[in-house]
Amino acid sequence: MSIRVTYHGHACFTIEGGGAKLLIDPFLSGNPQADIGPEEVEADYILVSHAHGDHLGDTVAIARRTGATVISNHEIATYCAAQGLNSHGLHIGGGYQFPFGRVQLTIAHHGSSFPDGSYGGNPAGFLLTIEGRTIYFAGDTGLTYDMKLIGEKGIDLAILPIGDNYTMGPDDALRAVELLQPRLVVPFHYGTFPVIEQDPAAFATRVVAKTGIECRVLKPGESLTLA
Ligand code: NI
Ligand code: MN
Repeated sequence: MSIRVTYHGHACFTIEGGGAKLLIDPFLSGNPQADIGPEEVEADYILVSHAHGDHLGDTVAIARRTGATVISNHEIATYCAAQGLNSHGLHIGGGYQFPFGRVQLTIAHHGSSFPDGSYGGNPAGFLLTIEGRTIYFAGDTGLTYDMKLIGEKGIDLAILPIGDNYTMGPDDALRAVELLQPRLVVPFHYGTFPVIEQDPAAFATRVVAKTGIECRVLKPGESLTLA
């Protein structure tokens, strides 16, 4: 079995593995990078890292159409349940064994208000264990030394923000790679808006030169396979 990871631009990924299709942070409507629309994307589970509009995005509409279960912090899960959606709430540090694999919420240093300004709980990243592979999706976060602890478990793929302004920029993301020591790095959260314009290829070159760790830049619509 292998795990397939597809980038849809900004913070949105599809991860196929463990017999399920996971959609992360489906900001598709209004996302200039999106390669797929909210009316056509498929999902069994939707993982939402925090309530900001560029992450919660089209979650409600997609979950309503597909019947997907929303996995997020307690506040976002409760918000989704109140709208009649299937949801499962977790909190930072907590994990749960789903049919496809384990999801644990990790610390993200960021904010998490809903688009209307109401409280969205704590922002998070995701540590996913699927088919014996470990994927760390950092979410919107600054650099944190907790990444060293997360990396000690052994990470196959680390998905890290590099946009700066709202999250880590390339310099701190490079330090995150050094703390995490993953097998593979994929950058995200760049290029969507002028304030987060970055050169992902230059970042990838720096990662390889400094750490010897492979860094793959995915264009929206592009996939990689974790063997
Ligand atoms: Ni955010
Ligand atoms: Mn964001």
